[in-house]
Amino acid sequence: MDLSQATARVEELRSIIEEHNFNYYVKDNPTISDQEYDQLIRELIALETEFPELLTPDSPTQRVGGTPLEGFVKVQHAIPMLSLANAFNAEDLRDFDRRVRQGIGTDAPVHYVCELKIDGLAVSLQYENGRFVRGATRGDGTTGEDITQNLRTIRSLPLLLKKPYTVEVRGEAFMPRRAFAKLNEIRAERGEALFANPRNAAAGSLRQLDPKIADERSLDIFLYSMVSEEVLPVAAHSDALRLMEELGFKVNPERREFTGIEGVIAFIEGWTDKRNELSYDIDGMVVKVDSFAYQDELGTTAKSPRWAIAYKFPAEEAVTVLRDIELTVGRTGAVTPTALLDAVSLAGTTVKRASLHNEDIIREKGIMIGDHVVVKKAGDIIPEVVAVKAELRTGDEKPFAMPTHCPACGSELVRLDEEVALRCINPKCPAQIKEGIIHFVSRNAMNIEGIGERVVSQLYEHQLIHSVADLYYLKRAELLALERMGEKSVDNMLAAIEKSRENSLERLIFGLGIRFVGEKAAKLLAQHFGTMDAIRSASEEEIVSIHEIGTKIAESIHKYFEKPEVDELLGRLKEAGLNMEYKGLRPQDVDQNSRFSGKTVVLTGAMEQLSRKEAQALIEARGGKVSGSVSKKTDLVVAGEDAGSKLAKAEELGIEVIDEDTFISWINE
Ligand code: IVH
Repeated sequence: MDLSQATARVEELRSIIEEHNFNYYVKDNPTISDQEYDQLIRELIALETEFPELLTPDSPTQRVGGTPLEGFVKVQHAIPMLSLANAFNAEDLRDFDRRVRQGIGTDAPVHYVCELKIDGLAVSLQYENGRFVRGATRGDGTTGEDITQNLRTIRSLPLLLKKPYTVEVRGEAFMPRRAFAKLNEIRAERGEALFANPRNAAAGSLRQLDPKIADERSLDIFLYSMVSEEVLPVAAHSDALRLMEELGFKVNPERREFTGIEGVIAFIEGWTDKRNELSYDIDGMVVKVDSFAYQDELGTTAKSPRWAIAYKFPAEEAVTVLRDIELTVGRTGAVTPTALLDAVSLAGTTVKRASLHNEDIIREKGIMIGDHVVVKKAGDIIPEVVAVKAELRTGDEKPFAMPTHCPACGSELVRLDEEVALRCINPKCPAQIKEGIIHFVSRNAMNIEGIGERVVSQLYEHQLIHSVADLYYLKRAELLALERMGEKSVDNMLAAIEKSRENSLERLIFGLGIRFVGEKAAKLLAQHFGTMDAIRSASEEEIVSIHEIGTKIAESIHKYFEKPEVDELLGRLKEAGLNMEYKGLRPQDVDQNSRFSGKTVVLTGAMEQLSRKEAQALIEARGGKVSGSVSKKTDLVVAGEDAGSKLAKAEELGIEVIDEDTFISWINE
């Protein structure tokens, strides 16, 4: 391939990848498999490596690019980023509507757009000729900070627009609730300080100098306005939002247009209850005059536009009595306190427990048993105790002290360097072992259906299991002897255990619960080394050499496999017949020089010597991808017996068609 061919292919790949990003991250509707997507990325990386002159920062391969910054560069906003005036009730909204109608001199109902007020961080994105060139924080409204590197890691942010517009768009970067809960879970496990809410977590992530950290934080973004020097083909805010969607921006779909304020008020009331069903936090609703002509007429004050207002939801807090503090020992030995509360209704659910996170928080807030406390939803399902109502004390409250010894096994608790959490470091602690087994059977690990927390506890308490290996030696008769265990559930359990023996290696690695090894690291390890034995005998240096695995993880893995009890555990798992190999395709197994490399192949009709799945695997191992339908993008069609409409379409489009024998001979080349 020469430079001009490479340039063309690189451009093509980038727009295809951008389209798939859009389908996946914006539309939530992927049209290709992860493998097919990875294949496109790999082809692009290969070309950019061969022709480094083609590598640009807006390439999808560079989402997590660049070296950590020394500090942030200041950015002047050409048009200031204003904030919004607030409304707290229906009357405030009616006043706003009156002011608007007075301002434009009409008695007629005004056309409004009502949107969710996303609880994140305002950002501005600059595009030149359709390319994302710079992103900045709001700062003080006039001067913000250049956070381009971090914003690029947000997969729903288009690096390349569908049309070559030069525009500035503004919106809200945020952390989805699940990502927030997961982040805090990991931080708690590592004994690091927790983020109070998703907004703080998002802000903290975008202010990281190293884009790799922002990348790990799974941020997302909704865009809500367009600011532009060039004249846009739109006359109203609602048109601008639609145009933004057409350009590839993620615009919040939960918006509605109304004529007159009463519809807006009813819509907002509806969202006051529904907001908890969203996968991200909102702190209110924004009402905007739709017509740009009216917006111009109304103008702005020094701080905020007169054509928009933010309705703020009432805070979701409730006061209740804290009856006791329960201590649980997690899989890693961290002892966490949970408040047991008098049932109270909060944001549509009944709350009886709330997180206290760690001892420091209990001490800082001065929480005592029997206190009236303020509980609040914190983006997660489990609410947290945010404050004590000291004025409601009766004198009967009792101070709480964290135990010095593990509530499960009695061994002395320790505080590891710089950690907030107290830990039980007894490897034989029953609570840790039990939690470890619960983790092992969980959905993202070995996915053993029918065995959950309750069954694990039951098996453990009856001493049928002492480690995860024992699951594979359970006998039907001993299970049937347990309470609440029918024949059917026992058979289902055994079948699920049996099935899990065949899991690909990454599930087992993740299931072992090695510290700091999450799903992603487990997959990287499995992919890189291929077998459990290879991982076990790898040196720390070899492990660190895997892109995206740092020294902390590598050290933990190496240490784990050095333990004699791990040796024994793996021996028993092997004896039980567990698969210890990675079943997916490993990057080094892909033959980049085959005739299938970079080609899109469609399989149609019946094949005699191979199943569809086998044929697909063979093509993918040769760097090709298999697609379900014939289009202009198809390079090759393999037609078996009785091929029908796909063959006809391929012939119509003049795409190369081969039969099964030819396919096999090409595979064997
Ligand atoms: S419009 C002139 N629309 O709320 C200001 N803002 O003070 C135009 N926000 O920090 C803002 N969701 O980032 C607008 N759908 C939405 C919004 C939204 C969240 C944030 C915005 C700003 C604050 C307003």
